[in-house]
Amino acid sequence: MPLLGLYAMNGGEGPNSYAQNSSYQRGVVDAAKPIIEEEIATKLDVGHVFSTHVKPFRIADFGCSTGHNSFPAMQIITESVQKKFRSETSQIPDFQVLFNDQVFNDFNTLFRSIPPQKNYHAAAVAGSFHERLLPKASLDFAYCSCALNWISEVPKAVRDDTSPAWNKGRVHYTGAVQEVFEAYSNRYANDIGSFLEARAEELVSGGLMTLLVPAAPCFEHSETFYTTQSELELIGSCLVDMAKKGLIGEEKVDTFNFPLYFTIPQELKAIIERSNSFSIERMEILNNPGKCTLRSADARATYLRATCEGLLKNHFGSEVMDELFDRYTKKIAASPLFLDPDNEKSIIILVILKRKAE
Ligand SMILES: C[S@@+](CC[C@H](N)C(=O)[O-])C[C@H]1O[C@@H](n2cnc3c(N)ncnc32)[C@H](O)[C@@H]1O
Repeated sequence: MPLLGLYAMNGGEGPNSYAQNSSYQRGVVDAAKPIIEEEIATKLDVGHVFSTHVKPFRIADFGCSTGHNSFPAMQIITESVQKKFRSETSQIPDFQVLFNDQVFNDFNTLFRSIPPQKNYHAAAVAGSFHERLLPKASLDFAYCSCALNWISEVPKAVRDDTSPAWNKGRVHYTGAVQEVFEAYSNRYANDIGSFLEARAEELVSGGLMTLLVPAAPCFEHSETFYTTQSELELIGSCLVDMAKKGLIGEEKVDTFNFPLYFTIPQELKAIIERSNSFSIERMEILNNPGKCTLRSADARATYLRATCEGLLKNHFGSEVMDELFDRYTKKIAASPLFLDPDNEKSIIILVILKRKAE
């Protein structure tokens, strides 16, 4: 079944919530802070805001979830932009932050948790960031962190039992035949293309965009390190074990695939360069602490549960979730590779783009 946004990170603030289990994504914001500050100070063109009349400075966070990592990011951006304005003019505009996520996102928790001392007006924009969400040339700054690894849907060929890319017995492309990987990779390139096209329409000329993209150092499989892809393969093996025990149907496993893709820096750069609307102002691998803050098997399992449970529940049912994540925790605890978080080599690619003049 295509996904079309029928999932979200775990809402609320309970023990399995995204809010309580996203310290890794928070570390990404902290690592990106000095770069965002520097890029705003040196690259942001503030002239257009005052060209006719003082209009609000609009920032959008695409894929904000319940906001707990978005709030510090929006504070970094608004304070840096204010500083830039102060250095060039006596007028400071009002700020508006548009929090975007899929329609099933827990926006109630976001608005309940919004810092009372915020220096912006907040609004929500629900819908897929692979499509146009905002009026033309209405946005001054776009931000998207830890979200562009979600593709718009599992590629059709991977779900089609007559296709060479049918992914029977697996839930992701790791370890699968090349056709499966290619189907994912094509979907990803199209989705990023659509994302950039939509943002190119929405951003003003000279508008900046910060992307923090979950990625892998290479496409090759390794016995000495692991990435998020390997973790998805591990949970896939738990689902296969459960199917063998009759706890879930085998066909349920055959028809489930994660809509996630982890690019590599060269591939992402090539996709961005194909879109003619942006100049790449900066692109680097972020010096972030990785997942080494998640030291126990339990913490690692809850981290994955907070992001993927909604998706798994929709397909397999909520009654098997405890069993699935118990099995996953045990597999991590039993594996010398997975138990040591220092073996985790997922990366975050930081990209700063500028909307070219039309
Ligand atoms: C891992 S969370 C990251 C949340 C937040 N940016 C952070 O850094 O903590 C990924 C978010 O992207 C959202 N997302 C995935 N695909 C999306 C889409 N097509 N449109 C809007 N949001 C999407 C998910 O619903 C989820 O809330």
